[in-house]
Amino acid sequence: MLVHEIEELRKIRKEWCGEKVGLVPTMGALHQGHLSLIKKAKEMCDRVVVSVFVNPIQFGPAEDYGKYPRTLEKDMELCNSAGVDLVFAPSPEVMYGKGQKLSNDTLTYVCPPFFYVNKLCGKSRVGHFDGVCTVVLKLFNIVQPDFGFFGEKDAQQAVIIKKMVKDLNVPVEIIECPIVREEGGLALSSRNKYLSEEGKKEALVLSKILNNIKACYNKGITDIDALKETAYGFLSKEHELEYLEILDRDTLDEKDKADDNSRAFIACRVEGVRLIDNICLGGK
Ligand code: PAJ
Repeated sequence: MLVHEIEELRKIRKEWCGEKVGLVPTMGALHQGHLSLIKKAKEMCDRVVVSVFVNPIQFGPAEDYGKYPRTLEKDMELCNSAGVDLVFAPSPEVMYGKGQKLSNDTLTYVCPPFFYVNKLCGKSRVGHFDGVCTVVLKLFNIVQPDFGFFGEKDAQQAVIIKKMVKDLNVPVEIIECPIVREEGGLALSSRNKYLSEEGKKEALVLSKILNNIKACYNKGITDIDALKETAYGFLSKEHELEYLEILDRDTLDEKDKADDNSRAFIACRVEGVRLIDNICLGGK
């Protein structure tokens, strides 16, 4: 079922009183990564809502808001086959109000703490996580789910949303789902559509660097700089590295030495497309 209006969604939500409801927030252009979240939601919940909304306030002025892929018809087919109960696809006017200026001069924003935002993706994408938290809290208020499903692909986003939920007493349990990759190792992303075949091959550098860091850690290297330096052998002029960091996976704290609770995070541009990936150093 496709719903565009908040009031219609609220009516249906009322009929689900007493049932466990899961929300999978997305920006559409759905792929197997999104579908893995939907599958998990189906396992845990009686009702599954997928939101499809390209959120204008989480894109910077020079980012790809205008050209972000919008494929609602195909998304609907995938959601129907996956047994999704309701797809919520509001317009920006429905989400933010007609004539509402999208700026924090006149719109209430949720601002996650500086410590979590001033690193990794937040450093180059100023205001991005304010936009993400604002829309996610709005979606939680509109859908009132018991569970919200998020991918480890955007690990900083998941940490920040968990922090928001805790700090603001939002009655939603956040479930994190593992990264889904192509056979070669490339993490699935709606932005992979921007890459040529050659670019897709070059993009393998992200997962190669991360796997190598994990292999080095497993061999006993725990010095953060030594681990990061292993990346340079993989990089060539096709890759513009934005960051490579090894931080605590839960708190995003820097550490003296890597340990099983560390996560390596990378952002790199290939053919001008900004790609991100990460890996946990502990575990298999
Ligand atoms: P979007 O990029 O569409 O991603 C929606 C969800 O799918 C996120 O939780 C993301 O981490 C997860 N996801 C994407 N690729 C994945 C992969 N390869 N494996 C596992 N999970 C994956 O993230 C957003 O949208 C937006 O910021 C949003 C939370 C919807 C707020 O607008």
